[in-house]
Order: sequence, then C-alpha cells, then structure tokens
Amino acid sequence: MSFIKYKRIIEEGDIVIVFLGHQRLHVVTVTRGRVFQAKFGIFPHDDMLGKEYGTKFFSTNRKGWMHVLHPTPELWTLTLPHRTQILYSTDISHVTLMLDLKPGSIVVESGTGSGSMSHAIVRTVAPSGHLYTFEFHQLRCVAAREEFKSHGMDECVTIECRDVCKDGFGLEPIADAVFLDLPRPHEAIEHARSVIRPSGGRLCSFSPCIEQVQATCEELRRCGFVEVETVECLSRSFDIRSVRLPTLCTRESNGSDDVVNECEPHAKWKKPGNDDDDGDTCVSDLEVELKCDEESGASDCSKFLAVTPNREMPGHTGYLTFATLHAKRK
Ligand SMILES: C[S@@+](CC[C@H](N)C(=O)[O-])C[C@H]1O[C@@H](n2cnc3c(N)ncnc32)[C@H](O)[C@@H]1O
Repeated sequence: MSFIKYKRIIEEGDIVIVFLGHQRLHVVTVTRGRVFQAKFGIFPHDDMLGKEYGTKFFSTNRKGWMHVLHPTPELWTLTLPHRTQILYSTDISHVTLMLDLKPGSIVVESGTGSGSMSHAIVRTVAPSGHLYTFEFHQLRCVAAREEFKSHGMDECVTIECRDVCKDGFGLEPIADAVFLDLPRPHEAIEHARSVIRPSGGRLCSFSPCIEQVQATCEELRRCGFVEVETVECLSRSFDIRSVRLPTLCTRESNGSDDVVNECEPHAKWKKPGNDDDDGDTCVSDLEVELKCDEESGASDCSKFLAVTPNREMPGHTGYLTFATLHAKRK
C-alpha cells in the first residue's frame, strides 16, 4: 500500500485511517484476526478485508460505526505520532502553492521533525520528483525513515541524519525549492542557496518567533535572495451540528401593520418589549421573532442544522517567509 498511489480495496497489512467522528481519527494496520476496540464497540479487522475504502462498518453490538479511509498526507497530519511540533494543512497548502511544487519538483527540506510536511511534499512531487530531507536528531531520523518505507513513499524521498546549519546539505545544486523549519533558520540560508539549481528557485522558512523571521530576512537579502515576504496563515473551520431552537416565525413588513407572510398558520406574533405596546417596532423589511417563548413552552422547539466555529483548531501560529533566488548571471 502507498500514501501516494490510491487503491480501492482494503487488504491485509494496509495502514488505514479509522474515522469515528469529528476529531476522532485513528491509524490502524489491518491484521487478520485482530479487532479495533473503540468507545462505541468492537470492530473486527476481518470485516474490512476485501471491502472498499470509505465503507461504513458497524461494531459487533451494532451500536457504533466507523468509516475506514485511505490514508492521505492530510489525514496523516491529523493522526501521526508527534515527535515534534508539526505543520498543519493550512500552512502546508500555502507553502505548496508559493514554492510552486508539482510532480517532478526536487525539494530540499530540514528539519524533518515528525514528517508532516515531508508527507505532503512527497505526495505533491511524486512520482517523478524527489524530496531530500535532513534531520539531526538520530531517533527522529530513524522513525521518519521507517514511516516513509511503510507508507510506500521511499522511492521519492531520501532522509539523512545531518546538522544542516553546521555541515550544509551535501548536495549538488539540484533543488527547485528549499523548505526550512528550524530553530535557527538563518544559519542554513547560505547552505540553502548553494543547493538551489543555477536556473533559480524558491525558499520558504517557517518560524514561530518574529525574531527568527527578522534574522532570516536579513540573511536572505545578504545571500542575494529577492522578493522576500513574510505571511501568517490563519484558517477557521466550522462545525455543522443540529441544535434545538425555538421555532422562528417571520413576517414581511409592507409598511403597515398588516402581516404579509406567516411561517405557520397558528403563529402568535409578539413584538419586542412590552406585550401591550401596539407600536410597530419593525427595523427591517423582514422581522424575525421567537415563537417558542415561556408561554408557548419547549414543545415548539425544532431541530435545526447550524454552523459554529470549532472551539479547538489544531495548528500553531507561525510565520512563513518566502524568497526567490534568481538564475545566476553568466
Ligand atoms: C519543528 S520540527 C519540524 C517539523 C516538521 N516540519 C513537520 O511538519 O513535522 C524541527 C526539527 O528540526 C530539527 N533540527 C533542528 N536543528 C537542526 C539542524 N541544525 N539540522 C537538522 N535538523 C535540525 C529538530 O531536531 C526538529 O526535529
């Protein structure tokens, strides 16, 4: 199985993403005879074998259900074992666009960290491109290498344990783009310049602190990079959920006191403020009032689909600094 080549049918040994609900995602290796145990019941792995990705499975007690999804870099970002801080899809998508990554691109990255960004880069540049990623922490390097292999991506990625600030990248100038997520990125800029191909390329550095950004921008300019710009990406996602609300009644104002349209025949119109006040308190062409008040009771409440911003959104603030290195003049 591979994170970069999609297939239809679930087979033994596949790494799958089990979706139990919003923010309830798990990584499972499908193994004959095993079960996946969740709060809502037990799911035998054998049930998944031979079924299509995306299928809904019920627990043995029929009380719970889950969907089994094909892994993608986006789902991996939400489920991976954290060895470090990681990049999330909002930043990743912007980096992918601004570095102009596409199939065939050659990318150099450091540090690899938990491999969140690396997975996304490999999926984008595959099958003809390549990612060279560098991580100086031995255990993180070994763990990422194993993941790339078991996720079927190892043909498109090379990982090396190396301190890129001290020793550089040890590569010829082959890169279309360089991505840095390092605590001291300014120390790697000169090395980054030397791996960008002579025809020029792009660089991006992610930093959570503005002081790092400042040092990076100064170094980028010193090294001949141009179009230096820093952005912060923020995204806001919304939950769709059903909520119980009092029934809403509307009427259109035609300038007089006549009710032009009622939402329900038995609707009882209440004006804001004093019940005895007959004055027209309309402020817009369409008035909306609550029918389900203390008098009418909760029985008039209905279920509605509503959207609310998520209270928790995975991500951490950071700055993305982009720059261009133009082709070398002859
Ligand atoms: C924040 S993590 C990178 C996370 C990664 N972008 C992701 O999305 O999973 C930073 C990594 O850089 C590594 N690192 C720090 N300094 C380094 C250096 N000089 N050379 C190579 N790796 C370095 C750290 O060990 C750490 O794993």
